[in-house]
Amino acid sequence: MNPITSVYDLEAMARRRLPHVIFDYVHGGSGRELTLQRNEHDLCALALRQHDMRDVSHRNMKVQMVGDSAEIPLAIGPTGLAGLTWANGEVEAAKAAEQFGVPYCLSTMSICSIEDVAEATDRPFWFQLYLMKEHKVNESLVRRAHDAGCSALVLTLDLHVQGKRWADAKNGLAVPPRLTLHNSMDILSHPRWLLSMAKSRRRTFGNLQGEVKQAKHLKALTQWIEAQFDPSFDTETVKWVRRIWDRKLILKGIMHVDDARLAVDLGADAIIVSNHGGRQLDGAPSSISVLPEIADAVRHRIEVFFDGGIRTGSDIVKAMGYGAHACLSGRAWLYGLAAQGKDGVLCALTLLRDELSDCMALAGLQDVCEMPEDVVTAQPPLAAPGHHPFAQPSAYGGRSRGDGGGATGAYPT
Ligand SMILES: Cc1cc2nc3c(=O)[nH]c(=O)nc-3n(C[C@H](O)[C@H](O)[C@H](O)COP(=O)(O)O)c2cc1C
Repeated sequence: MNPITSVYDLEAMARRRLPHVIFDYVHGGSGRELTLQRNEHDLCALALRQHDMRDVSHRNMKVQMVGDSAEIPLAIGPTGLAGLTWANGEVEAAKAAEQFGVPYCLSTMSICSIEDVAEATDRPFWFQLYLMKEHKVNESLVRRAHDAGCSALVLTLDLHVQGKRWADAKNGLAVPPRLTLHNSMDILSHPRWLLSMAKSRRRTFGNLQGEVKQAKHLKALTQWIEAQFDPSFDTETVKWVRRIWDRKLILKGIMHVDDARLAVDLGADAIIVSNHGGRQLDGAPSSISVLPEIADAVRHRIEVFFDGGIRTGSDIVKAMGYGAHACLSGRAWLYGLAAQGKDGVLCALTLLRDELSDCMALAGLQDVCEMPEDVVTAQPPLAAPGHHPFAQPSAYGGRSRGDGGGATGAYPT
């Protein structure tokens, strides 16, 4: 068997193991996927400038992220429906994060619940909150995260409405996936995935099941969720969350320097410069392109985290050279989970750690916390924009493959 040499191998394994309907959900972005492509492309286009004649035998990669220790400057970012890629996926990923020593963030839209993860792990994790129109649900989720010992709340700001992922709508993504005439070949031709899913403790949104009276009927629960994202969400709402959550608060989805300054004024402990991995506003700039301005403005007053496009350890160096204190990963660990469960998440983290370590040595860097600004420099784009030589092109590249599947496929995010 070929060795796994990069996250791109895990991506290819995930592609083979998952039904298209699930892989496309993980891999894709909204609309024409312009922002999705920019994230990776703009990271690739940055070059690293090395310093030689330095002793790099000891390299520090450890950081603190809002007071939690991290073996490398990377947290497992929140992703909905991870438990559809591997049985009890969120619990397996949280165990991997605990074993490796990085923070884990559970999504509101997870299959495993807050309590499932708390029961399976000892290390405090982070909980990501989507604000719902029904405030009593928000209150309850915040209280449950508090009771479960979560050390930080990650409030996602960029989901006033859901970005449209064309592939999911065409594929008829449903939770749990339904066997229809349209998708039966797809699902039945992935028996390894199908059999493994039989071991799942839960089949739907674990955090919301107990909160909603319609929860017994999955279709009604889905409709409730789709109608619940709150477009009226503004600074007053953030103030309200700040009042009811007394631990670390991280605001996710900052793409403008004014919003970063506002986050400081609103009492956040950290921000995540993020465009949601190209799944919300299609046409937004890459998150790496807006990072320097935002970091320059607020990094001495608040922790600045970054996500969007991280696939190698050198991407982490680039983000930190551009002023981030640490990063989060979405797809990289999720490909690992989908390929090999907990071992796959550990594999993704190990690859990123080893690449980071090598990159630091080769660039003459001793401490990830003291990244010189001049380590990163812009270069003209590579010959084939948007395509890493080893990356598979995006499943759709903005074009649909299916011919209609019925359900809305509008799941966050
Ligand atoms: C399949 C998938 C589901 C996601 N679900 C959520 C979510 O529930 N909440 C959230 O704040 N962000 C969500 N995100 C966005 C990620 O937290 C993160 O911002 C993004 O994936 C980073 O880009 P990357 O995938 O290139 O690393 C999701 C991303 C993916 C790929």
